[in-house]
Amino acid sequence: SHPATHRLTVAVVPMGTTDEYWRTVHAGAVRAGRDLGVDILWQGPIRRDDRSAQIDVVENMIVRGVQGIVLAPVDNMALRGPVEDAYRNRIPVVVIDSDLHSDRLVSFIATDNYHGGYMAGEHLSQLLGGKGDVALLRGVEGNASTDHRERGFLAAIKKNPGIRVVSENQHGGSTSETAYKASENLLAPFKTADGKLKIQGIFCPNESTAFGMLRALQDADLAGKVHFVGFDSSEKLNRALADGQIDALVVQNPMSIAYLGVKTLV
Ligand code: BDR
Repeated sequence: SHPATHRLTVAVVPMGTTDEYWRTVHAGAVRAGRDLGVDILWQGPIRRDDRSAQIDVVENMIVRGVQGIVLAPVDNMALRGPVEDAYRNRIPVVVIDSDLHSDRLVSFIATDNYHGGYMAGEHLSQLLGGKGDVALLRGVEGNASTDHRERGFLAAIKKNPGIRVVSENQHGGSTSETAYKASENLLAPFKTADGKLKIQGIFCPNESTAFGMLRALQDADLAGKVHFVGFDSSEKLNRALADGQIDALVVQNPMSIAYLGVKTLV
């Protein structure tokens, strides 16, 4: 702590900084800092798949001598080293949002992502009346949160023998732009000559993949013509939900996840 103020300094390191989800995580951390009287250092990579950038941020926070770190790891393995370094420097680490294969954590605070994906699969199955073809656009490879949602979704779909998963190997990447391109590639083989779609349902496991897919459907004049379940909420996703272009969104509580992450350390 700083001798003059004896205030603790807590680093909060998100996966990315562009999604509305991370801006809400930031708000939760700031509110916890204010309520608990600690200084918050907020820094994360621009892109949600930039492992080396996030590793650099954590290592720099260790050098700065923060008293604790709240981390949302972009990869469930790549951040093990920096967390080990924090442990050796007696800096406790709380992981939020997306788990890390490490036994050096103080705590793990996140949505039950597998169950969230399972709920999405159950709901999409109901929307299809138990029969039809569906597509899954995955998030970033190695990202535990979206990986668990994808597995939960596929497990729920498997319960419906009348539903076929016709695409599950496309990854939307870390931004809505990369997800838009991946969505166009995914949709292309399922478009008919008269501009319709040969699939009946789509699931996207987070804010950026859902928004990228939404924009691809809108640009192809297919939004609202295929059942679509997404994850997370944002102004644009919520508007599409209200307009019937998205059927359902599985949502989290990023404000509370971040607040509890800071509170656990303090
Ligand atoms: C999204 O990525 C996930 O890790 C978060 O839970 C959220 O769904 C934000 O970029």
